[in-house]
Amino acid sequence: MSNNTVFSGIKNPNPLNLKLPNINSEEFDKVINTRRSVRVFSDHKIPEKIVKKCMENALKAPTSSNLQTWEIYWIKNKEKKNKVIKACLSQPAASTAKELFVFVSRPDYWKRNNQLMLDYFKTRNNVPKEVYNYYAKITSLAYNHGFLGILGFIKKIIVNIIGIFKVIPREPSSFSDMKVWSQKTTALACQNFMLSMRAYGFDSCPMEGLDSTRMKKILNLPRKAQICMAIGTGKRENEGVYGKQLRFDNDLFIKEV
Ligand SMILES: Cc1cc2nc3c(=O)[nH]c(=O)nc-3n(C[C@H](O)[C@H](O)[C@H](O)COP(=O)(O)O)c2cc1C
Repeated sequence: MSNNTVFSGIKNPNPLNLKLPNINSEEFDKVINTRRSVRVFSDHKIPEKIVKKCMENALKAPTSSNLQTWEIYWIKNKEKKNKVIKACLSQPAASTAKELFVFVSRPDYWKRNNQLMLDYFKTRNNVPKEVYNYYAKITSLAYNHGFLGILGFIKKIIVNIIGIFKVIPREPSSFSDMKVWSQKTTALACQNFMLSMRAYGFDSCPMEGLDSTRMKKILNLPRKAQICMAIGTGKRENEGVYGKQLRFDNDLFIKEV
């Protein structure tokens, strides 16, 4: 649920006028075309600076309402790493990973981050009223579902009635919707991260073949936190790429309507 004026009616009072750099699209294509899910990594270490850069790039992914409901766990402690590998079903992509990460979506953090946004606005004197109101009022309506989701249920009924007459965002209307909402954002961070690894000459493998309950326990996460995926990284061993990349015919998936 949100306020249409927020999306359609604001005149930007502070255009940035950024000068965009030239981008070598061939290099970008190389990154895309050489990223593969790598299941066996070599002993080659990843410099810490590159790991940090890739995590920073991950956090530059787009995020719904800019609420940044994600976390990256870089598993550095050896004992913890062994446990995480086990929670990843001891897949080689985890056990041979030089650095191992768990991306966690935190739908439960929307309120904390919303407050961070309001606090940030207080330090600026040029925040448009509509933007301020979005975080002061609309997000509470959109992301709050009340005790046992009762408010969300009522909201869903109201939205469905209003929706008969006018265009209105339908989700999220429950904590389940919130999980999807937050996972979308976190998955985009994962992709930024994996492409960054490739751009810096390293490889990755996303893994959702894992025991999420055990993983949450290892990482000391609350019930509402959601494991998005674990990502193993390192330099590829040739046998770590299982064949040519297979994609079905583009026509199956691309619809020009
Ligand atoms: C959300 C997600 C979960 C995945 N989980 C696993 C996994 O647990 N183990 C694994 O070996 N690969 C996993 N993969 C990798 C896929 O199998 C792989 O992306 C797919 O086969 C296409 O190959 P490519 O990435 O090399 O293009 C996962 C990929 C995604 C996007």
